[in-house]
Amino acid sequence: MTSRNSQDTAEEAARVVPADEAGIAEAARTLRAGGLVAFPTETVYGLGADATNGAAVARIYEAKRRPSFNPLIVHIASFQAAVRLGHFDGSAKRLAGAFWPGPLSLVVPLRAPSPLSSLVTAGLGTLALRVPRNRTAQALLDAAGVPVAAPSANSSGRLSPTRAAHVAEDLGGAVDLILDGGPTEVGLESTIVACVGDQAVLLRAGGVARGEIEAVLGKALEEVVSDGPVSAPGQLASHYAPGAPLRLDATEIHAGEALLGFGPQDPQGAERAVATLNLSRTGDLREAAANLFDHLHRLDAARPSVIAVAPVPGEGLGEAINDRLKRAAAPRGQD
Ligand code: TXA
Ligand code: MG
Repeated sequence: MTSRNSQDTAEEAARVVPADEAGIAEAARTLRAGGLVAFPTETVYGLGADATNGAAVARIYEAKRRPSFNPLIVHIASFQAAVRLGHFDGSAKRLAGAFWPGPLSLVVPLRAPSPLSSLVTAGLGTLALRVPRNRTAQALLDAAGVPVAAPSANSSGRLSPTRAAHVAEDLGGAVDLILDGGPTEVGLESTIVACVGDQAVLLRAGGVARGEIEAVLGKALEEVVSDGPVSAPGQLASHYAPGAPLRLDATEIHAGEALLGFGPQDPQGAERAVATLNLSRTGDLREAAANLFDHLHRLDAARPSVIAVAPVPGEGLGEAINDRLKRAAAPRGQD
């Protein structure tokens, strides 16, 4: 399969295949080969990629033209597959037992070491997981045999698609394959509940009603409070920030700093860096996106005084990369 760029191929018609045995087999092969597949779930159509393949996940953001990296929901076929990726405590276990497969996503602590690309979680220590009940989605996840990261299959700022034709009109040739399983049953996104520590927090209303969830938990769901305990570091902070301060657009490196490079040329004084990683030596923004959070984590572990970041161009995926770098450079508590 050739890897495509949404900008070059936006005019190309998307390949739409029916969700029969042959279509599902082709979609599974496409996912395993690093391609993008739009597929139905009972809520809305998802734009799927192999969640363990960073370059494939980077293509999701490229196709959606998202100006920032948001963590993605990882779709798996069963609870057994979910517990290999995340930690399920009492309330997460109870909610999965009651509502999976179904339109509920659970945010739980990420199990380490993780096979998932750090771009999926946008560097966070938590992970959103969902077992969809739509039969095409189930069959695809079974056949693919990899966890599938999938946001709604719409470009940034557009409505979530509930039919294959919506995806074809909006994303067109940016997707390798659209699996047509007919209109979705629920028609709105999954409910998202974060189960971290002993809290159960409603992050997004959706296909499962609050009352049904509270009945299973035997208590009220908590609300997200922007400066409350759920946004404290290590809990539900919605943006990853390293411990070391970041210095952006660095053209010179000082002693004690770590260097996050981009492209073939290192900034002046690069030999003074206590640790060096390069987002992409060849200047490939897709590779840079795939490496971004992982490299920040690794440089931070060297406990530098500062992480100096070489300039990254702003076009294409560079916009989202620069947005995340700016957020990571901002003082804690800001986004
Ligand atoms: O119904 C759905 O949920 C659809 C289908 C395709 O599964 N997916 C969907 O994904 O709506 P998306 O990317 O459009 O919305 C996912 C939401 C985002 O708002 C994201 O910030 C949040 O889930 N999210 C994902 N991981 C998270 C995490 N670790 N902590 C907090 N929020 C998270
Ligand atoms: Mg969406």
